[in-house]
Amino acid sequence: MSKRGVIVTGAARGLGAVVARRFHEAGYRVALADIAFDDASALAKSLSADGDTACALRLDVTSKADFEQARDELIQRWGGVDVLVNNAGASKVVPVMEITAEQFDQVIDINLRSVLFGCQVFGQFFADRGAGRIVNIASLAGQNGGSATGAHYAAAKGGAITLTKVFARDLAARGVTVNAISPGPMDLPIVHESVPPEKLKAVIENIPVGQLGSPSYVADVAVLLASVDAYFANGACWDVNGGLFMR
Ligand SMILES: NC(=O)c1ccc[n+]([C@@H]2O[C@H](COP(=O)([O-])OP(=O)(O)OC[C@H]3O[C@@H](n4cnc5c(N)ncnc54)[C@H](O)[C@@H]3O)[C@@H](O)[C@H]2O)c1
Repeated sequence: MSKRGVIVTGAARGLGAVVARRFHEAGYRVALADIAFDDASALAKSLSADGDTACALRLDVTSKADFEQARDELIQRWGGVDVLVNNAGASKVVPVMEITAEQFDQVIDINLRSVLFGCQVFGQFFADRGAGRIVNIASLAGQNGGSATGAHYAAAKGGAITLTKVFARDLAARGVTVNAISPGPMDLPIVHESVPPEKLKAVIENIPVGQLGSPSYVADVAVLLASVDAYFANGACWDVNGGLFMR
């Protein structure tokens, strides 16, 4: 049987890199898609020097044409992939009353348009083949609205959870499931780079389990949701937040 394949967006660093590695360990062919192409290429080479089981793609998630090009390249290279992980995301902290139209659009584009385009392009490809899995990386901010990363980010992630349900309903009968994972603050470079140490200490003290989240556990959940056996998990939002938000 041929290997299963996955495309992970924003895979050059952070959570996306951890997710890509974990899928590779699980036996998948992995396409690391990112605007940071050189970093994605270096990681892909470290996983598969000859490119047989890992490759990098230059992809800007705000562009539907880039998703279409990635789909076509992957069809040529491996006959396609079976799984999409919409992971790329970013924010710029601005108080809600001061967010400009440009800042709002930028954060919505990266965190929400990306999910729309990824689900449209790969959802259609998977549906035409009668099988596929999509995992959208959302955020606790999209559920409780409260976030150090900004109101525009929280709104975009809330939208990503809603799009997850819309696509899950639309694609289910054609063998495609769509789920979201909603992490709380994780032990990742961006968190240490963007949150001052004193503030980070307070963030951690506020988490019921008293620790930042493990990116590798989030990656495990993504692999679980991507499996063929996971057909009955559909339209769900998997909370991985240490007990910060319970419902
Ligand atoms: N860090 C956390 O604690 C945390 C918590 C909840 C959710 N998340 C979500 O997890 C995901 C990954 O976050 P991270 O902490 O690893 O962030 P990160 O900034 O470390 O990595 C983001 C990656 O996305 C890439 N990227 C940015 N804009 C892009 C674009 N337009 N097209 C393609 N790639 C692009 C970057 O180059 C980078 O490789 C995001 O969706 C984020 O919102 C993170």
